[in-house]
Amino acid sequence: MGWLSRIFSKPDTQTTQAPLNLSWFNTDMHSHFLPGVDDGARTMDESLAMLHKMQEFGYQKCILTPHIKMDMYPNSEADLQLRFLELTQAMDTAGLTIQVELAAEYYLDDHFLNRLESTPLLTFGPQRYVLVEFSFVNPPVFEIETFQRIIDKGYTPILAHFERYVYFHGSLASAETYRAMGVNIQLNLNSLSGHYGPEVKKQAERMLDQFTLDFVGTDAHRMDHLVLLENHLNVPHLKLLNERLLKNQSL
Ligand SMILES: [Fe+2]
Repeated sequence: MGWLSRIFSKPDTQTTQAPLNLSWFNTDMHSHFLPGVDDGARTMDESLAMLHKMQEFGYQKCILTPHIKMDMYPNSEADLQLRFLELTQAMDTAGLTIQVELAAEYYLDDHFLNRLESTPLLTFGPQRYVLVEFSFVNPPVFEIETFQRIIDKGYTPILAHFERYVYFHGSLASAETYRAMGVNIQLNLNSLSGHYGPEVKKQAERMLDQFTLDFVGTDAHRMDHLVLLENHLNVPHLKLLNERLLKNQSL
C-alpha cells in the first residue's frame, strides 16, 4: 500500500495486536504445567496447549515447578518424575520442541525441613536452585535459619513471588535481607498485569523500579494466565525488564 492510499484508507476497525514476544527471557522458571498433580494443568491436553503457547511466546525452556506442600499436594519427587516422563513423551508425539525440566515449588514448613534432611530436592540450573514459597497468610518465622540450612546443604534458594505476600507490602526490606544472604527473589509477570490486585501490582512495580529481583516467572496454572499475560503485560514494564540482566537468561 502506497503512502497516499494509507492516508486515505479507512482506519482499521479491528486492532491487530503483535504476538507477545518474551524470547529474551529465554527460560520460564516457575510454572504449573505438569498435569494432574496440583492446582495447575488438569489434563495432558491442557498441559500441551499451555506449552504450545509458551513456545509461541518465544520461550526456549520451561522449568516445571509443581507444588510440594504436604497438607494439600503431598507429591513425592519420584511420582513427579514419572508424570514428567509421561509429559515429555506426549510432547514428542505432539511435536513440541520447547525444552522442559522438572523442579518443584516447595512450601516452607516442618515437612520441608524433614525433606531437606532426608531427600535430594528437585533443583534446576548449575547453582542447584530450589524454588520455595511462604504462607500467604502468616508471616514466616525462622525463615532466615531455614534459608541458611538450605544454603548449607549446597542449594541456592529462590523465594517465589515476593510481591504476593501481603505482610511485606510497602517495603522491600525483607527481600534485601534475604538477597544479602544469597537468596534469590522471583517476581510473577502477572503481578505486573494486575491479576492479583492493585496492592500486589504496586509492590511488583516497586521491585521493578528498585530492581529488587533476580528472576521472573509466569507461575501459570491455566491457559487464562497466559492469555492475561498476552493481553495485559504492558510495554513499559517489559522495557524495564529488558534493560536489566535477569538470571532467567542464565538457565
Ligand atoms: Fe507457583
